[in-house]
Amino acid sequence: MFRSVARSAAGKHLLRRGYSTESVPDRKVAVLGAAGGIGQPLSLLMKLNPLVSRLALYDIANTPGVAADVSHINSRSEVTGYVGEEQLGQALEGCDVVIIPAGVPRKPGMTRDDLFNINAGIVKGLCSAIAKYCPNALVNMISNPVNSTVPIAAEVFKKAGTYDERKLFGVTTLDVVRAKTFYAGKAKVNVADVNVPVVGGHAGITILPLFSQATPKANLPEDEIKALTKRTQDGGTEVVEAKAGKGSATLSMAYAGAIFADACLKGLNGVPDVVECSFVQSTVTELPFFASKVRLGKSGVEEVLGLGPLSEYEKQGLESLKPELKASIEKGINFANKS
Ligand code: NAD
Ligand code: LMR
Repeated sequence: MFRSVARSAAGKHLLRRGYSTESVPDRKVAVLGAAGGIGQPLSLLMKLNPLVSRLALYDIANTPGVAADVSHINSRSEVTGYVGEEQLGQALEGCDVVIIPAGVPRKPGMTRDDLFNINAGIVKGLCSAIAKYCPNALVNMISNPVNSTVPIAAEVFKKAGTYDERKLFGVTTLDVVRAKTFYAGKAKVNVADVNVPVVGGHAGITILPLFSQATPKANLPEDEIKALTKRTQDGGTEVVEAKAGKGSATLSMAYAGAIFADACLKGLNGVPDVVECSFVQSTVTELPFFASKVRLGKSGVEEVLGLGPLSEYEKQGLESLKPELKASIEKGINFANKS
């Protein structure tokens, strides 16, 4: 179904290049965990996205207030809040994209894997509902540990008979956002012009920024590349420590999540050459899931792009990350299959 975009000043301003301003398909997006630290600003940003026509905000508590608040913004989408498991099905029905930031965040001293015991069960339950109510939706997994929650989701969908590897994404955009920001600072280039692929996974050394492919080229010395790599890998911990027990990245994550969801919507709507890094089912390495550049299309992943040429330092980083990433993937698969 097609309908005209509301021609408010805000709507016109927010329409991005590559789109007709005349008609945009109806698209329903759900945010699961919408009342949380990420969920609230992400809901705001999705409300500002003119590609969204219906926005479903779901959480186990506090969604009515968030939904009422966000719904007053004069942008295209109709906002509905859903609270509690009995309303999850309604939130999901008809969804094109489901974004999942539900789950507990880290405190100082914790690894992302320390969140597994709580978040694995949350993700499993939510994905079972997705399989039932919107099996064709693109799923944007934000909940940590992403290296395990994505494999959990895949197993849940396989068991339900709905798995389509083109529709499941671990959101690693924040790693790219950080790599761009840190690189621009060191290379003294305009951050808006910077591109840096980040591959591997989303935890510690499994996050592998490919600064040898960064543009604009800056020819930074090896020690600066190593420092940039480490800062990108530890970016989440930098925020966790700065927040000193009050959670992890929420605002930058909401920004990153909104960018990735927007790319998914553009792909669904047929905009050509939409490419983002994401943790997806992959044959780029011997590991079953891997983050790399992905071309997005009308059915989700259109093409998983290869790694491109790597520096010696990056080749070493790639080999070093594989055992940890493999173990995290297997942990997720085992959890989904035994519980
Ligand atoms: P938060 O505690 O502020 O919010 C989480 C929300 O999830 C809460 O509102 C809570 O009520 C809700 N929730 C819990 N169980 C739920 C369920 N079964 N169904 C629906 N909602 C449920 O946490 P946060 O700071 O928003 O972080 C959320 C998750 O995102 C964490 O796991 C965190 O580690 C992860 N994260 C990932 C990235 C990334 O780059 N992928 C970045 C930052 C944070
Ligand atoms: C991040 O990278 O900021 C998130 O994965 C949250 C965390 O725990 O670091």
